[in-house]
Amino acid sequence: MKILQLSDLHLPDSPERELFGRRPLTQLHAVVDDILAHHADAELCLLTGDLADSGADAAYAALAEALRPLPMRIQVLPGNHDRRAGLLRYFPNATCDNAGFLQTAIETPVGRFLLLDTLEAGAPWGSYCTERCRWLAEQLSTSTVPIWLAMHHPPFKVGIPSMDQYALLDATDFRATLLPHRARIRHLFFGHLHRPIGGSWMGIPISCTASPNHQVALDLHTLRGEAVPGCGEPAGYAVILINDEHTVVHHRMLNDDAPAFWL
Ligand SMILES: [Fe+2]
Repeated sequence: MKILQLSDLHLPDSPERELFGRRPLTQLHAVVDDILAHHADAELCLLTGDLADSGADAAYAALAEALRPLPMRIQVLPGNHDRRAGLLRYFPNATCDNAGFLQTAIETPVGRFLLLDTLEAGAPWGSYCTERCRWLAEQLSTSTVPIWLAMHHPPFKVGIPSMDQYALLDATDFRATLLPHRARIRHLFFGHLHRPIGGSWMGIPISCTASPNHQVALDLHTLRGEAVPGCGEPAGYAVILINDEHTVVHHRMLNDDAPAFWL
C-alpha cells in the first residue's frame, strides 16, 4: 500500500499571498502535479495539520479546490493553526468524536489509521486531554489489527528547543493510553516540525515530513522567546510504502530545478 503525507501547508487567508518567500498555494499546486505524475496510485493522502495559516475559510476552500484532481482518499486532521469548523465544512469525511474533537478512525488493508486531534485553541503547543484519550482507548481496544497513528504535534521533544516548547504539552495520559497496545502500533506520523525527521518513541517508529512551503532550521541550541528559526531548505512531502514486513518513508523534495541524470 502506498500512502502520502502532506503537512503544514499554511495556506494564507488570501490564497495569493506569499509566506516566508514562497507562495503556499503555488507550492501546493507543485505537490499535486508531482503526485499526479508519479504517485497517483497512492490509496490515501494524509494531511497532518496546519493546512491553513490562520484558519480562514478561504484557505480551506482553496485547499479543497487544489486537491480536487487527486484520485485517492484524502483525510485531514487539525494543527495549531487550524479551525475545526473550517476543516469540517470543506472536508466532510472528517468526523468528530462524541466530545467534539476532530478525530477520525479509518480502516485500510494494512490496519486501522487513527487521526488524532491535538489542537488547543489559541495555543501553538498541543494537548491531548482525558476526553481525547477516552476515544483513543476505545479505538485501540475495539480492534486487533495493526494501528497507525497520525497527529500534528509530536508527543516528545525532537531536540530543537524553539519547537520543543510547542510539542504536546503533557503526554503522560497519551503515553499511558498507548502503552498496553504498543506492540501493535506500526508507526506514528506527525507534522508541526516542518522538517523530514525519523526515529522511534517508546519503540514506535516515528516520522515527520517537510512542509511544502517553509522549513524550520536544524538549530539544536537557540531558544529566543517565542521565535522559531526558519530556513530555505527544500520543500517536500512524504511517500510511504507499507507491506506486512516494512514501512518505508521517502521524502520527496521539491524546488530542484537541476536536470535529472543517471548515476
Ligand atoms: Fe506548521
